[in-house]
Amino acid sequence: MRVLAISGSLRQGSYNTQLLRAAEELVPGDVTLELYDELESVPPYNEDRDTDDAPPAVVRLREAIAGADTVLIATPEYNGSVPGQLKNAIDWASRPVGAGAALWGKPVAVVGASTGMYGAVWAQAELRKILGTAGARVVDAEVAVGRAAERFDENGRVIDEEIRDELSEAVGALVAAAGPQLVAA
Ligand code: FNR
Repeated sequence: MRVLAISGSLRQGSYNTQLLRAAEELVPGDVTLELYDELESVPPYNEDRDTDDAPPAVVRLREAIAGADTVLIATPEYNGSVPGQLKNAIDWASRPVGAGAALWGKPVAVVGASTGMYGAVWAQAELRKILGTAGARVVDAEVAVGRAAERFDENGRVIDEEIRDELSEAVGALVAAAGPQLVAA
């Protein structure tokens, strides 16, 4: 079973990316987690360019999502909401609208980290709404890492056991949402 992990942050030392790396260590043995690292190359959504000849980075994004059984997104919170680059990628992946979209029916779990107290809970809530509108199957899971600077060591590893447990639960829910036949595959 394949999980595509998308960090909404483009920053080198991103806590959200680190959270996904921690998730990589928690997935069951028969599950592979691949970190998507091309978010920065996805151009701004333009309906005129959303044709059979879509931009190459968009084609690769759509293929990465379509080829995964599930998607795990870690989002920062920018001004109380989802970073623009992440929303932009979801807009591309939500088209062509309906069953042809890469995100359509895809199980997706949302987690998040912020340096503020609340762990990007607003951004996570908005992201779930956006994903639901795009036709994804949003999995009931939440990991909200507040005060992120205190929760990772200098090598970017999660030092908080509670977060590791919550993350493990979220990954478990995501794997279960993909269906038992895929776990065994
Ligand atoms: C932030 N940050 C932030 N944090 C928060 O809890 N609520 C918010 O609304 C915002 N808004 C915001 C806007 C912008 C433009 C930036 C750059 C930052 C702080 C944010 O949580 C912090 O930079 C995180 O470290 C971002 O996540 P990554 O990059 O570490 O994954």
